[in-house]
Amino acid sequence: MSPKHVEEMYDAVIVGAGAAGLSAALGLMHSPDIEQLKESGIEPKVLVISKLQPLRSHTGSAEGGIAASLGNVEQDDWHWHYYDTVKGGDWLVDQDAAKLLAEYAPQTVINLERMGVAFSRTDDGHIAQRRFGGHTADFGKMPVRRAAYAADRIGHQILHSLWQQCVAAGIEFAEEWYVTDVVLDKSGSAVAGVVAYDTHAGVTHAIHAHNVMFATGGAGRLFHTTSNSWDLTGDGMALALSAGLQLEDIEFVQFHPTGLAHTGILLSEAARAEGGVLRNADGEAFMERYAPEHRDLAARDVVSRSIMAEIDGGRGVADPKDPDGPKDCVWLDMTGIDPDHMNAVLPQVVETIKAYANLDPAKDMVPVKPTAHYTMGGIPITTDGEVYRWAESGSQNGDADSGTRTVVEGLFAAGECSCVSVHGANRLGGNSLLDACLFGTRAGESLAARIAQSPVDDPMRDADADDGPAEA
Ligand code: FUM
Repeated sequence: MSPKHVEEMYDAVIVGAGAAGLSAALGLMHSPDIEQLKESGIEPKVLVISKLQPLRSHTGSAEGGIAASLGNVEQDDWHWHYYDTVKGGDWLVDQDAAKLLAEYAPQTVINLERMGVAFSRTDDGHIAQRRFGGHTADFGKMPVRRAAYAADRIGHQILHSLWQQCVAAGIEFAEEWYVTDVVLDKSGSAVAGVVAYDTHAGVTHAIHAHNVMFATGGAGRLFHTTSNSWDLTGDGMALALSAGLQLEDIEFVQFHPTGLAHTGILLSEAARAEGGVLRNADGEAFMERYAPEHRDLAARDVVSRSIMAEIDGGRGVADPKDPDGPKDCVWLDMTGIDPDHMNAVLPQVVETIKAYANLDPAKDMVPVKPTAHYTMGGIPITTDGEVYRWAESGSQNGDADSGTRTVVEGLFAAGECSCVSVHGANRLGGNSLLDACLFGTRAGESLAARIAQSPVDDPMRDADADDGPAEA
């Protein structure tokens, strides 16, 4: 009979295989620390655990673009991106982290291109860029095209490219395993491993590892109407809480303005970037009233609140599928976009509207309403991905200047389950993939540095230094 429980030992376990988890695995494997280790004949033992087959991770449903001040179609500057991120987050952003995000965005996008992401192109062959809400030039003076895109399937492109690179690098995956616990040492100050359940074999794995990283995504499924796939159930955040750790900014949840009525499925902001307009029951393009300067491409919180104000003011519309139902939607009018252009740059939006609403956006008004889209808060991390908590003796008011932060040794996180606090109270479109890829990579590099100090397969390793599998 095969065993029901297995104990094993790894240098690092990464939980989650979306953009953050895969970027971390690659950041780790390609770091100079690990390359040096391999040259000395030691192979790091790294495992990526995913509750899904990795190519089904939610990153694959990101649509409109990844933000970076490449300046390929209009003049841009990372300082402007930095300003927009801080302002878009309602000034509740960690400004050091946002600075890193904006400064390293162009390099992050170029790295993705080198890894195989098939970006859409300008006529002269550069990575194409489109407008997204809240992205401006010259510190808010005018809109700027900053979102690098691949039609409306940027997430799919990024996920597949990162996955292929991981396969090429020989990274070990445990697919459709579910992590049930993160284990800290007795003092609670360092990570000791995870417990995971292999849903295929029905075997529980006790995995000893002095380095664990969460990249488990957000928690949109808390809400009735959400753009998130069924698996976005806040697992990493729940595991952290169960282990006695804390969450930060968890009250900040983003509602994307254009969820398809009655499904919540994302209709990318790119639809408005390409000329789509929001209209109320009177046919009025109402965003002119709420945000005269940026109109339909104001920041998402502004647009979502404006939609709700129209609905609450009695100017909402019913979903044509349920004409006698509540008037809790507004129209997305895409009829002004040239149909050929629409099919070329918004194929997924068009397909979603046809498949789920039986409407043709080239001719029909499309019913939309705000949909829970992104969890700005999460497991608190430093810009190197280290999970920390406020020491009990420290401030509990979340003020970085007055509190005492204590890093949990060996525990890391990145992406939507984490909070490096680059999004404050409201994330700008395109900054999520950027956050996941950049801070995922940085966390992977931090893991690599720790592994290099004391790899489990090192024959010189001090036997007392690990708490590996106990004698049966
Ligand atoms: O509208 C969108 O394409 C969503 C992008 C994002 O959340 O960054």
